[in-house]
Amino acid sequence: MIPFQYHNPTRLVFGVGAIAELQHFAPQLGRRLLLVYGGGSILKNGVHAQVTAALKQAGVAYVEFGGVEPNPRHTTLQKAVTICHEQQLDGVLAVGGGSVLDGAKAICAAAAMHADVWEIVVGNVKVSGALPLGTVLTLAATGSEMNSNSVITNWQTNEKIGWSSPFTYPRFSILDPQTTCSVPAEHTVYGIVDIMSHILEQYMHHQEQTPVQDGFAETLLRTVIDQAPIALQNPTNVDARAQIMYCGTMALNGLLSMGVRGDWATHNLEHAVSAIYDIPHGGGLAILFPQWMRYALDQGIGSKKLAQLGTHVFGLPKPIADTPTELLACAHAAVDRLQQFWQTLGAPTRLADYGIAHDRLEELAERTMRRGPFGRFIALDRTDAIEIFKRS
Ligand code: NZQ
Ligand code: ZN
Repeated sequence: MIPFQYHNPTRLVFGVGAIAELQHFAPQLGRRLLLVYGGGSILKNGVHAQVTAALKQAGVAYVEFGGVEPNPRHTTLQKAVTICHEQQLDGVLAVGGGSVLDGAKAICAAAAMHADVWEIVVGNVKVSGALPLGTVLTLAATGSEMNSNSVITNWQTNEKIGWSSPFTYPRFSILDPQTTCSVPAEHTVYGIVDIMSHILEQYMHHQEQTPVQDGFAETLLRTVIDQAPIALQNPTNVDARAQIMYCGTMALNGLLSMGVRGDWATHNLEHAVSAIYDIPHGGGLAILFPQWMRYALDQGIGSKKLAQLGTHVFGLPKPIADTPTELLACAHAAVDRLQQFWQTLGAPTRLADYGIAHDRLEELAERTMRRGPFGRFIALDRTDAIEIFKRS
């Protein structure tokens, strides 16, 4: 295990009916808040009514800011920053999926720093403070509810960049699994792929003797694989929704990365694709992750770990002799099973499914190289990126 420190300051408030708890926690953010949300799903499913009732109960005033897009754009968030200044707001309450939560983190930092959102995202402004943030999560996917990460898109330059700061952890996050019952099948699937991808990014590490980390990861994967078809067949099955939501938060709140160094190359590849084509993050991951795995295997890397995935998660028979040939066969079978599982749920398998052709491969690869070679399980450069995109 590599040495590590762990600190996660976000209070998690989880359970059916949990939004009512907002009346106790909202005052921690201040007396006047910006209520941030997306394209209107919270107005249709009753979450907006529950949230505003709790805020009124708490005696907290709020100004509404709707319209944060999936793959949130910096120009929209900048408008919210202006409102925070004009209205002299104390804090931000984000209600929605990962895009809304990520956008709210950028608003909180830019408002406190009196800085341009994009300057913060690209790291030109060092964040030394942020308005306090609370969240009500309505979609199980990103883990943004219990981490400090934020992924923002600039549609003028076609860049999608992840950034984080110790100041952007939510103070609290309220997770009522009932709110996710209205998530359409398509976004439920993307969320499931994203959750599993976060687990897999951290599972693909080179550290030895990590049975606890690997065991946590495998349990989360098996749970999501069990529950996903139930939630898709019966979208209002709150037990299944709750288990998926819990896995989503645990997948990216630091639990799985203690003592190991995960890969994260596939996320870099996907962010390059969605920055140009505006496709859903989970859709891109479903296409790219199996191809990254096969590419790693072709370079002679990862057969032991992927064979472990096959036996521990997909129930494949354990290779009898553990010879390189047997491990490789088992690893390939595991990747096939993963891809089949996502495909059965309805996820895409080829970039062509989104109408993406070969013509901008160079540009895509260019974007993955923003910070140089990437990937910690297997280091990738421009040529590798192009090859993975071609295979996808
Ligand atoms: O905008 P509204 O109207 O709310 O509709 C949303 C949106 O259209 C809808 N939705 C959300 N909750 C719903 C619902 N519809 C019905 N009922 C509900 N309860 O779902 C659509 C997608 O929402 P979005 O927030 O975009 O999805 P997701 O949570 O998957 O977030 C994706 C964004 O997060 C970034 C991605 O790159 C992408 O920009 N990521 C953030 C990470 C992080 N902060 O740690 C890590 C991830 O790897 C990821 O990169
Ligand atoms: Zn992700």
